Amino acid sequence: MWCLTGFEAVNEALKDRRFARLPPPGIKRPKAAEHMKEFLRVEAHSLLQLEPPEHTRLRKRVNRAFVARQIETMAPLIEQQVNACIDQFIDDRSCDLLKTLATPVPVTVIAQLLGVPLSLKDDLLRWSHDMVKVYTLTQSHSDELTANQSAADFRSCLLTLITKKRAAPEDDLLSLLASHDDPDNILTDDEIVSVCVLLLNAGHEATVHQFGNLVNDLLQNDCAPRGGFSDLTSAKRVVDEGLRHDAPLHLFTRYAQTEMELAPGITLAPGDQIALLLGAANRDPNRFVQADTFLPERTDGAHVSLGGGIHFCIGAALTGLELRILCDTLFRRIPELRLTKQPQYLNLFHFHGLEALQVSW
Ligand code: HEM
Repeated sequence: MWCLTGFEAVNEALKDRRFARLPPPGIKRPKAAEHMKEFLRVEAHSLLQLEPPEHTRLRKRVNRAFVARQIETMAPLIEQQVNACIDQFIDDRSCDLLKTLATPVPVTVIAQLLGVPLSLKDDLLRWSHDMVKVYTLTQSHSDELTANQSAADFRSCLLTLITKKRAAPEDDLLSLLASHDDPDNILTDDEIVSVCVLLLNAGHEATVHQFGNLVNDLLQNDCAPRGGFSDLTSAKRVVDEGLRHDAPLHLFTRYAQTEMELAPGITLAPGDQIALLLGAANRDPNRFVQADTFLPERTDGAHVSLGGGIHFCIGAALTGLELRILCDTLFRRIPELRLTKQPQYLNLFHFHGLEALQVSW
């Protein structure tokens, strides 16, 4: 397929309604395999599998729930989680930060936001790992069976919770999604399951890797905010530059909805797929000065790491908040943090992240 790599081209394509995540009506996708039935049922109402008007309706409802929770009010809870993790390893004077800090925090935060009991944290991590494995290009039949089983277990766990929350609503997102307070936009149980699975899967895997990539960038480039971030503006700049320089998700595809000219001499037919290379766009030398260098103080900062247009990442504010608190708390409590081993990137198709982040202090 054709790949867009320039910043302007990728940014424009993300917002261009002549492209969509689904093929246009009338163009069939390959028939789903029987052994992936449960997986596909959970994916069926994912925001990433929908286009308007269904997407608009569901996204409005989820957005409402997200705004209602006022993401910023989660700051004390995130800080508490980060401190609790650091308490566990600070006396060891060395650790793998991916394992000890990056992995446990985002899943705890998203579980609390949704209202999923923390006792299920290990199950959530396992289900999510199993499910995202089938987005690789090299999954085996047995990986697919495992993903299918995990999707079924995840679904059944969520259905039980939805029933509970309807009977006794609590101050959480699951209760809001399950409530019938807006008679014009009531979500079915299957829709709520799809939304929750997407939030849980998207809500922690990418954040885990982005935290690793960001801390690596800060330490490699000697820009770690020893003693924490002095102000919010510089904290936000660092996080955004990390997202630009070393994003965790590099490739999203789109289908042409009509016949169109992609570039002079390149015509797309309806249903043709193109790839948007977010990682390349973020390093476009025509858009960024010293594009390959991590420069938190840059004045031409921007990125496409969280997408754009109608599918723009719903978790953008939460991700920013989590990354800021993670870095601020880490470098405030352990200012002398240093790398003990050159980190290696995972050989994965679906995430761009590190195998481990070995540090000492
Ligand atoms: C560093 C962390 C993250 C990155 C890099 C990231 C990136 C992205 C990107 C690129 C998209 C757009 C995909 C497309 O246009 O095809 C997206 C969509 C989405 N993200 Fe994130 N994300 C992150 C964290 C989160 C978090 C924390 C949540 C939830 C709490 C979340 C939930 C979603 C959802 C639900 C969508 C689909 C929105 C829609 O289709 O309307 N993401 N994300």
